[in-house]
Amino acid sequence: MIIAVDGPSGSGKSSTARGVATRLGLRYLDTGAMYRAVTWSALEHGLDLDDTEAVAERARQVELSISTDAQHARFTADGTDVTEAIRDPRISASVSKIATNLAVREELIRRQRAIIDEAVDDTGGIVVEGRDIATVVATHAELKVLLTADQDARMERRKAELAEGAVTAEQLRDQIVRRDADDATVSEFQVASDGAVTVDSTHLSLEEVIDVISRLAKE
Ligand code: CDP
Repeated sequence: MIIAVDGPSGSGKSSTARGVATRLGLRYLDTGAMYRAVTWSALEHGLDLDDTEAVAERARQVELSISTDAQHARFTADGTDVTEAIRDPRISASVSKIATNLAVREELIRRQRAIIDEAVDDTGGIVVEGRDIATVVATHAELKVLLTADQDARMERRKAELAEGAVTAEQLRDQIVRRDADDATVSEFQVASDGAVTVDSTHLSLEEVIDVISRLAKE
């Protein structure tokens, strides 16, 4: 079984997708982390991010290792553990530029499909989170969820993380307002696909959202 969870920044899709995978005993793939890892690698190599050819070549060359364990999702890029580094505000500020590079998308989508196929062949299935999973990456997913929340709710959630010290004020601004704008060009991938269920999490707790999706998966 493949469960696609798409949604914008701050919609809670990472916590939701991880929670659903844990509850149902499925693998988990964070495709946003792959775009972040390519961004990290491009910056590490001192590339000009406007040089679309050089960045695309980096995406093809970088060796990514991605754990699909929902409770221990770790990423390495060319042998370096980048699990924390890819959350840096410097990466968040540049990732949309990398994500609009079509050659990068082509390469990462190819890798995502290989990871998904392997999980489906070897285990019970996988929960995949991103922006274009239901529309492009895995159009054959058995369950497609478009997770939404209004911008105020997404702001409030990031603010709560701020209070816990998980994000800085700069990250907060970047994660919601700036990236919504930067991702406008990615939004063509974000439309609800055929058969997708829209779950509005504005007034739901994380546990409630996980309940709703887990129930849909069992139907
Ligand atoms: O911080 P947040 O969870 O919102 O974003 P993310 O899932 O880590 O994704 C980071 C960026 O990667 C997004 O802002 C998109 O530009 C891009 N992305 C994409 O284009 N397609 C995907 N399937 C996943 C992410």
